Amino acid sequence: MSYCSLVASHAKGKGTESDAVFTILKEANDAIKRVGKDKVTNASIGAIYDENENFATLSAVREYYQKISAEDLMNYAPIAGMPAFLEAAIQQTFKGFQPKNTYARAIATPGGTGGIRHIFYNYVEQGQKVLIPDWAWGPYHTIAKEHMRDVETYNMFDDEYKFSLQSIIDKTTELLEIQDNLVIVFNTPAHNPSGYSMSSEEWKKLIEFFKECAVNNEKKKIILLLDMAYMDYAGTSEETRGFMRHFAGIPANMFVTIAYSMSKSFLMYGMRSGAIIGLSTSKDVVEEFSRVGSFSNRGVWSNGTRSAQKLLADVVNNPELASEIDKERAYYSTLLFKRAAIFLKEAKEVELQTLPFHSGFFITVPSSDPRKLTEILMESNIYTVPLKKGIRFAICAVPVLKMSGMARKTKEALGRV
Ligand SMILES: Cc1ncc(COP(=O)(O)O)c(C=O)c1O
Repeated sequence: MSYCSLVASHAKGKGTESDAVFTILKEANDAIKRVGKDKVTNASIGAIYDENENFATLSAVREYYQKISAEDLMNYAPIAGMPAFLEAAIQQTFKGFQPKNTYARAIATPGGTGGIRHIFYNYVEQGQKVLIPDWAWGPYHTIAKEHMRDVETYNMFDDEYKFSLQSIIDKTTELLEIQDNLVIVFNTPAHNPSGYSMSSEEWKKLIEFFKECAVNNEKKKIILLLDMAYMDYAGTSEETRGFMRHFAGIPANMFVTIAYSMSKSFLMYGMRSGAIIGLSTSKDVVEEFSRVGSFSNRGVWSNGTRSAQKLLADVVNNPELASEIDKERAYYSTLLFKRAAIFLKEAKEVELQTLPFHSGFFITVPSSDPRKLTEILMESNIYTVPLKKGIRFAICAVPVLKMSGMARKTKEALGRV
């Protein structure tokens, strides 16, 4: 019988491309069955695995969940999020770096993903473009498409793989000629997939540029979306949030939004909790943001996960719990740096080009034929994710012992591409 599509016209063709990460993951699992776990390096999973290659969790979080009341586990949370959670999300996001004379509000969302969804949908006109980095987390495209928004990319790095602001400036200028609302996405610190973190100096220059754009044309609305999913693995509060002081005095038609995620910070990806934070010098702007976000929550997924919200509220109000979690997270953060250092040292020795890495879950090697490169590495039972312009190593999933030799094998494989 011939197949007749029943979906509405805007849904045609959705989901026809396979998910690269899950395809590779299946290949890696097949290889484990064939040759054994010891011989396989699975650098495809975007979650922390411990040194025994088991899914890592924080024991303080596990214990919290064992003691939580049935009501906090099962009941609804308020649509916008529990008030104590919203305060806690703002506190965790800024950690003392909220600029003076600004207003901040939060809305609970299912992970950072939910917050990104709200900003793409509520701050960009249908059919218009969101500006995202060329090296980027794939779902930015999916989220934009799902909500009938288009995507334009800026180049994060120049020809020598050094971070550059020029393309952001050029693309912003171009898009502001065409549309009044512009959302620009930054995934920093510990960018996925490069591990790059923008410096305070880079932020300062960029914010000055955006301020100028906003002041020069009051009709324009410039919305920055900072996706900070990995910030708790990227250094001290000063290093990860210090740049926020440059947001002081932004004009009212410039709005800073931050996607806060509990997925990585608490190693509880599946609990689907996070918040979208709005920061402005105008009280009206943040109140509108809160109203609109709350309505969107109701209209898309209703409420968030109460237990996760309760956890964050308790972390902020219970220094003992906070310090236990911080200690355990610091262990994994150090482990990530240790794994990265092995790869980067070897890459330097064999002259393997990587994107500039500071911290985080991933290291990326640029390539003209990423698929071929991943296939060659699979011959050595190394499983990585091919991107458009390179391959991504999920160092978060690879134990220290298996980090050695990977850069050298990649250099050799590049010679065969
Ligand atoms: C760059 C980036 N942003 C956002 C997310 C969203 O994660 P979640 O929705 O679980 O918070 C991820 C998850 O992998 C990510 O890599």
